[in-house]
Amino acid sequence: MHKIINKKNIPQILDVKIEKLSNLGFGIAKVDGYVIFVSGSCPEDFVKIRLTKKNKNFANAEIVEVIKPSPYRVEPFCKMQKVCGACQLQFINYPKQLEFKRDIVKDTMRSIFGSEIEVKEVVPSPKVTEYRHKLQYPVSETKESKRIVAGYYKQNSHELVNIKHCPIQPEFCNEIIEFIRIASKECNVSGYVEKEHKGLLRHVVIRTSAYSRKNLVILVINSKSVPEEIKELANGIFNEFENVSGVEINFNDKKTNLILGDNTKLLEGVDFVEEKLCDKIFKIGAKTFFQVNPYCANNIFEYIKKYISSNFVSPTILDAYAGISAFGICLSDIASEVTTVEEVPESVSLAKNILKENRIKNIEAYCADAGVFFEELVHKGKQFDITVLDPPRKGCTEESLNYALKLTKKAIIYVSCNPATLARDLKYLKENGGKITSVQPFDMFPHTYHIENVAIIEL
Ligand SMILES: C[S@@+](CC[C@H](N)C(=O)[O-])C[C@H]1O[C@@H](n2cnc3c(N)ncnc32)[C@H](O)[C@@H]1O
Repeated sequence: MHKIINKKNIPQILDVKIEKLSNLGFGIAKVDGYVIFVSGSCPEDFVKIRLTKKNKNFANAEIVEVIKPSPYRVEPFCKMQKVCGACQLQFINYPKQLEFKRDIVKDTMRSIFGSEIEVKEVVPSPKVTEYRHKLQYPVSETKESKRIVAGYYKQNSHELVNIKHCPIQPEFCNEIIEFIRIASKECNVSGYVEKEHKGLLRHVVIRTSAYSRKNLVILVINSKSVPEEIKELANGIFNEFENVSGVEINFNDKKTNLILGDNTKLLEGVDFVEEKLCDKIFKIGAKTFFQVNPYCANNIFEYIKKYISSNFVSPTILDAYAGISAFGICLSDIASEVTTVEEVPESVSLAKNILKENRIKNIEAYCADAGVFFEELVHKGKQFDITVLDPPRKGCTEESLNYALKLTKKAIIYVSCNPATLARDLKYLKENGGKITSVQPFDMFPHTYHIENVAIIEL
């Protein structure tokens, strides 16, 4: 048995071998059973590390020297990889990233179910660069020269890294951002300084379509009204780029980490881009949830469609946490009737427009809290053959899961971007009569520790 060493007597600097990756992408080393999370390390690295924080049961550490690199290390293709916190795993070769991510899902499932659940091999992303079709750059300005900087925060910090070229987003987004940096200065648009809650431009959000190659640009400003200089900037962006479908202003003058405020105003062009999934056209607005990697999303949608069409004939389907009803719309061809529920009104009204434009007649889209809506349906005695659950990272409440079980006759398909909450919710579904038949990971976010999963629970 391992002796748990006392955190007080563990040396500050030590040599360790990295065993595997944690669910947050840190390398894990163990010293006499004491767990150390080493940032920027890869399984099979032999490294000299410095402890940066000691806790009772684990410590955090950074690499002082790579003594013997793991055979899975590669040169990151982005020069900013070490400073920018976005692509934690870019220094690991892609096939190994997929293996390690599968291990993360397997470990999470094993901690709850033992070896009972088979986690399939990860379906790779069809594109591993320029795949990210939603960009959200915080903006600020330099102290002395007041130059506009825009990029990502360093990992676990609010220190902004000015990113001129990000290879995981479409190249033209980099060009639009560079134009905004230069044009802001010319239009006297100041960058937001978080500490002082001063300055105008605080974020640039770009929604990009893989289908039409158009971009919707949203300038998030620290103001309640539209100053002239922002109008000038918006007009400059719209006139400069043919592939910008519209420029909007979002008002966010609160001291908050939330990127978008409640109100958005269209200044130029139209307030959407059109995306295509499963041969259907979707309109995506500033606040619309849409999968950030449309190439991988298409694989997920086709996987679910194939499962349903090979097992059921014209089923009734409930699509919950539906966003713009993307699952419902893609599945409408093989369903007799689809009901979707989503709490953001803007997404539901976009869904209704998409239904009209795609002439889809067998879907009803509702705007409500999923739990409240489920309860109403249960009281009405309504049931569906299939329920698709695609909640946010925090997963579902037990109450919602309980209602979902009551509402579903044949199968629940649970789509999740968080293995931990997925495992927790699968446990509840299993304990209450569900049979978990498969967990299929998809690599929606190459080079990051994030992983999307589709679990099928038959009833
Ligand atoms: C992960 S997204 C999935 C969206 C959609 N299924 C798709 O693939 O495009 C989760 C969605 O759930 C919505 N949501 C979050 N909490 C909700 C709740 N309590 N009731 C209804 N919808 C909710 C969010 O607004 C978001 O659109």
